[in-house]
Amino acid sequence: MEKLRATSSLRRSLKSILNRQLSSVSETRYLNEKRSCQPTFNLIRDHRNLGEANPIRYRCFSSVSTVVQRNPSFSTLNPDDISYFKQLLGEKSVIQDEDRLETVNTDWMHKYKGSSKLLLQPRTTEEVAQILKYCNSRRLAVVPQGGNTGLVGGSVPVFDEVIVNLGSMNNIISFDKVSGILVCEAGCILENLISFLDNQGFIMPLDLGAKGSCQIGGNVSTNAGGLRLVRYGSLHGNVLGLEAVLANGDLLDMLGTLRKDNTGYDLKHLFIGSEGSLGIVTKVSILTPPKLSSENIAFLACRDYSSCQKLLMEAKRKLGEILSAFEFLDIQAMDLVLNHLDGVRNPLPATMHNFYVLIETTGSDESYDREKLEAFLLSSMEGGLVSDGVIAQDINQASSFWRIREGVPEALMKAGAVYKYDLSLPVEKMYDLVDDMRTRLGDLARVIGYGHLGDGNLHLNVSAAQYDDKILEQIEPYVYEWTSKHRGSISAEHGLGLMKANKIYYSKSPETVKTMGSIKKLLDPNGILNPYKVLPHSLNS
Ligand code: FAD
Ligand code: MLT
Ligand code: ZN
Repeated sequence: MEKLRATSSLRRSLKSILNRQLSSVSETRYLNEKRSCQPTFNLIRDHRNLGEANPIRYRCFSSVSTVVQRNPSFSTLNPDDISYFKQLLGEKSVIQDEDRLETVNTDWMHKYKGSSKLLLQPRTTEEVAQILKYCNSRRLAVVPQGGNTGLVGGSVPVFDEVIVNLGSMNNIISFDKVSGILVCEAGCILENLISFLDNQGFIMPLDLGAKGSCQIGGNVSTNAGGLRLVRYGSLHGNVLGLEAVLANGDLLDMLGTLRKDNTGYDLKHLFIGSEGSLGIVTKVSILTPPKLSSENIAFLACRDYSSCQKLLMEAKRKLGEILSAFEFLDIQAMDLVLNHLDGVRNPLPATMHNFYVLIETTGSDESYDREKLEAFLLSSMEGGLVSDGVIAQDINQASSFWRIREGVPEALMKAGAVYKYDLSLPVEKMYDLVDDMRTRLGDLARVIGYGHLGDGNLHLNVSAAQYDDKILEQIEPYVYEWTSKHRGSISAEHGLGLMKANKIYYSKSPETVKTMGSIKKLLDPNGILNPYKVLPHSLNS
């Protein structure tokens, strides 16, 4: 009965999208996402010792053992430093205003908070170089900051580090319509680049819910994954070149625009995903694909996780080159979104399903793409993989489907305390962890699973009314051990930041971490760049 209903509703939808095209789907999405990046919620916070008054220990909610000592070799700011920066950058770009400092000291989740007394906003690479040269000579620690949407405590100071925000370096330098290569400054907001490219008939190979605030320099520095990685691959493939300033102020010009260049070590890769610990990225060159004319989005329900998994295998096989996103959320995630986000409704309202899958296709031939999607959906329904579903019939509907999936992080924040894990796991094992965590936590907290199923990336989130060590003890180190046992990664896309700096050994061998430490020492001998982050604290002392 359920299957019949599903089949007929999908058939209806399929019919009604004939001759329809969702070419500007993403335009509507931006508006929502921009809002979703505003931290309009308040979490209970702060049983920590912070700042200069007590610069010894830093405690955060996400990890039992994140207790950090301020590196005593770092200097503290003095009036001469401020005068130097004012002379270099001008008064307006040297910010000491308490309200503004409060914002840049606090991360998006309101979980991590530093006590920096200084925010610098350089306008040119040369200014960045002079800032770092000076900080290095004075042993002043620095946090590079983009849009401050990071989810692992990497973008805010731990103690009193100087914040260098790239937001004023937001120029597009060039765009080559023949090759699709975009060169821009690191502070360009992702959404602005998407809009710029849209006007040129191209798209960014990267798309994520924080696009209204995050900057391309931040994206590159975190090697952000996002919603389209299944189609366009990671930034290691799409970033053709970059410019970075090292801790001592030296400039590395690797801003190539070539697809092929095998002259020696490809050092740009060191900066992609190094989370501001090796240098400040100031410019980026990125390969962008042409915008294609036909885009379709289906919102589907699955009975169980095994069906989601099989659906993914089928989608890869049957949709092939037109598949551009394959996202999933479980019933608990859907419930949160429906309860906490205004104006969001379930497109499959008759009953709640255990799992929801969002599939996007993007192609260049409307009728061919439609035929493919239609055949795929019908065979999935007939095979029992899909229990209900709907295809967006216009841009607004498409946008509302995306809002559900992309709204999960915001809904989680509104629900209270959230313990956030971002794991790469074999797809067939992925949801076992969610089930295990439910058993472990019982009534203590809610366990929510969603993520980029197409990339084997699970976002495991534990939601509770407030932070509680009892909950944390049930989660860690269990989640990390589980992930390591299944040869997964404890950071699929968010990075290590402060949250997981000490956990790196769950995913990397001691020899590998040691080599990373040597590279850090070589490029930043005084350790001024984003201290306490990425690498284990034992390596930094
Ligand atoms: P920030 O948060 O400011 O900084 C992140 C890290 O990069 C820090 O360590 C910082 O020191 C460093 N950094 C920033 N700029 C520079 C620079 N120019 N040079 C050197 N280092 C720098 N992430 C994903 O991967 N996929 C997602 O789908 C995704 N969705 C998200 C959805 C929401 C609602 C939110 C809030 C976050 C999401 N994120 C996601 C996490 C975050 O948006 C990404 O990590 C993003 O790439 C961070 O960019 P940013 O400019 O905000 O960087
Ligand atoms: C997402 O995919 O929604 C982001 O990575 C953010 C999150 O994990 O909460
Ligand atoms: Zn994600």
